Amino acid sequence: MILFERAPAKINLSLDILGKRDDGYHEVEMIMTTVDLADRVELYAIEEDTIEVSADNQYVPNDERNLAYKAALAFKNKYQLTNGVHIEIEKNIPVSAGLGGGSSDAAAVLRGLNRMWSVGASLDELAELGAGLGSDVPFCVHSTTAIGTGRGEKVRELDSPPRCYAVLAKPNIGISTWIIFEKVVVDELFHPDTQEVIHSLEDKNFTNLAANVGNALERVTFSLYPNVERIKNKMVQAGADGVLMSGSGPTVVGLVEHFSKAKRIYNGLRGFCDEVYVVQLLDRR
Ligand code: C5P
Repeated sequence: MILFERAPAKINLSLDILGKRDDGYHEVEMIMTTVDLADRVELYAIEEDTIEVSADNQYVPNDERNLAYKAALAFKNKYQLTNGVHIEIEKNIPVSAGLGGGSSDAAAVLRGLNRMWSVGASLDELAELGAGLGSDVPFCVHSTTAIGTGRGEKVRELDSPPRCYAVLAKPNIGISTWIIFEKVVVDELFHPDTQEVIHSLEDKNFTNLAANVGNALERVTFSLYPNVERIKNKMVQAGADGVLMSGSGPTVVGLVEHFSKAKRIYNGLRGFCDEVYVVQLLDRR
């Protein structure tokens, strides 16, 4: 039996940090949404009680270090299953980019195995299981527009964004989330206006959305990787209406209302940045 799952990338529309927690994580408040750039996850039922994973990208491990492998293991343990699976991942989302690619693959494995082995778990149950794998996995299980609180794993669905596009520019570096969080000094952070972003989603007001997107981690990432700030400045100069870094970076997101403008910005940025994409924000509600 073979089964396919799409694993879409996420972008942040806001990311705020409220404080440091006793468990070493940070209390966050972040609004995320889903875009039409996606990995493709194929699941093959196999005879043997084992998990295999392979991805067509040199930066993604083909073993138990892969979050998709960990997801399958957690799923098998939780539901006490002795079935085996081979996981094949076609990577289209850049790796270590702040776009949630690894988390989305893991979430796709949870959804896919739930179907393949007819377990009947709800999305909320899968999200709870996913929280043990990474803070962004519960959001990716739902793959919608949502606010994540706690360490990011408490997800509440929001209205989807107004119809618009995003230019994604990923500088040629990969960033591990913990490296950025480790450098956070909570008192020195910028705080985006989360409530105003929520209002702009409720009102489907693109201008207000673009004016209020923001990411508290930008300053931290910029201080370690100045090139990310340069890309952000280029994106602003090129005319994007709202610009922010996604997650802990390094991908910079430029929101625009019309595809023609997105294409213009894409063409302008390609000279400075190897990996540039135009994506559409998905309306999943
Ligand atoms: O949950 P996840 O494994 O994706 O987090 C990776 C790292 O990012 C954590 O080990 C932690 O250092 C940092 N982190 C944090 N606060 C969060 C989320 C992640 O400090 N809310």
